[in-house]
Amino acid sequence: MADSYQFIIFGATGDLTHRKLIPAFYNLYRQQQLPEKIDIIAIGRRKKDSQLYREEVYASVKKHSRYEVDEESWPEFASKIKYLQFDFRQDEGYRLLKEELHKEAHWIYYLAVAPEYFALIVDKLEKEGLAGKETKNTRVVIEKPFGKNLETARQLNDKINEVFSEENIYRIDHYLGKEMLQNIMVIRFANSLFEPLWNNKHIDNIQIVSSEIGGVGERGAYYDQSGALRDMVQNHMMQLLALTAMEPPVDLETDSIRAEKVKVLKALEMDFQNIDKYVVRGQYGPGQVNGVKVPAYREENRVDNDSGTETFVALKLFVNNLRWSGVPFYIKTGKRLTQKSTEIIVEFKGGAHPVYLAGNKNILPNLLVIRIQPLEGIFLQFNAKRPGTDNFILPVQMDYCQNCQLGENSPEAYERLIHDILKGDATLFTHWDEVEYSWRFIDRIAEAWSREEIAFPNYPAGSNGPLEAERLLERDGRSWWHLEGFHGEHLILKAKGVNNNEI
Ligand code: BG6
Repeated sequence: MADSYQFIIFGATGDLTHRKLIPAFYNLYRQQQLPEKIDIIAIGRRKKDSQLYREEVYASVKKHSRYEVDEESWPEFASKIKYLQFDFRQDEGYRLLKEELHKEAHWIYYLAVAPEYFALIVDKLEKEGLAGKETKNTRVVIEKPFGKNLETARQLNDKINEVFSEENIYRIDHYLGKEMLQNIMVIRFANSLFEPLWNNKHIDNIQIVSSEIGGVGERGAYYDQSGALRDMVQNHMMQLLALTAMEPPVDLETDSIRAEKVKVLKALEMDFQNIDKYVVRGQYGPGQVNGVKVPAYREENRVDNDSGTETFVALKLFVNNLRWSGVPFYIKTGKRLTQKSTEIIVEFKGGAHPVYLAGNKNILPNLLVIRIQPLEGIFLQFNAKRPGTDNFILPVQMDYCQNCQLGENSPEAYERLIHDILKGDATLFTHWDEVEYSWRFIDRIAEAWSREEIAFPNYPAGSNGPLEAERLLERDGRSWWHLEGFHGEHLILKAKGVNNNEI
């Protein structure tokens, strides 16, 4: 294997490159995890030279990297970055790029550009002889969104496949780079405590929630064409679901893990004829977040002032297989909610002995919460006796916080992902089959929605989302476990009707 790398970033002056990619490279450099021979070729349309570009990324690294900038070694790191100015829509630039590329190196193309340019760039790379199935050692990294539906995803995939073979295509889902996502399989399969209970005999329901406080910010133009279903559910939420529900893989090879995830996505089920009973969409109106007034979604920059795009989705689905038959999976994600947090909440069936049930209204179900962010860890709720002479049972909680010692300084998702791309390990990237089956399911929801008008906005910014999302679970005699906040580093979860003060 050649040991030199050329990492070519299209969209080098964009937000993603400044906030995530270059800081990730810098952090890898600081941990001595960057190959010694690596050029980062940053392609942008704006006129500037490498010197100026390095100064700009210095400021970004200072702001966004988890390592402080070390002034002494910075020049060595910076010397690896070269700015190449050209318009990637024009052919000439690719000739300039060709002059920069060394035959013996791995060429890795990172497309940090608007999705409508993915196919165009791949096409031009091929025409200039910079990529192609017979060109050895080339990889392409594609940011999301991978299509807008199954049809457009397939077209894009066919195009990319003409030039790159599947094993050289790295489709980014940055959630897969998060520490705790990589930990889900370990928690499940390396603990005899959980795996025997991980099925419909013992689990009542699973809630997968990713809430955000922020609105759409400056991404209104993209988001208004996308919405929460495509922006979050089709990719990140589906990956969380697949990892939670998959069968143990036969080994830890990329293909074996992917095969199990795909089986989950193939088995997804909901009654599309009665979509209202399964999916709730919402859009935020004006409201208050942390005491500050914020505008409605429709008033955000570059958003249609009559927009019908959803900023919130809650849904119920089933995984139709032997393990999960009958267990509802509830998924919820939205912008402008009360917290920024992501967790998987596994609610076990009420299993207390009847002698304890009488007279102990505080008995709560066992919960296992996999905390993805902001703090990473595992939370377990079970019942125990309150010390004293009475037989009062109360729920107690054990909270293992993985990154508390390190603060919030565990590796950024992009660090892990870039590291794996360089290594040629595609396990944490989305395979085409996963994209396909996930779109198949999402398209059916989008199609059902397109037949119905909905009155938006239907939840105020800074709330828990539309009331209808609460009813989704109430109809099943359940409720969402609301994250009330944090007590120090510990999570406070509350189900409707349960007063934490009593606990
Ligand atoms: C991105 C979405 O993929 O994920 C954004 O496009 C969303 O809309 C973001 O805000 C959330 O990521 P994280 O890592 O902050 O949970």
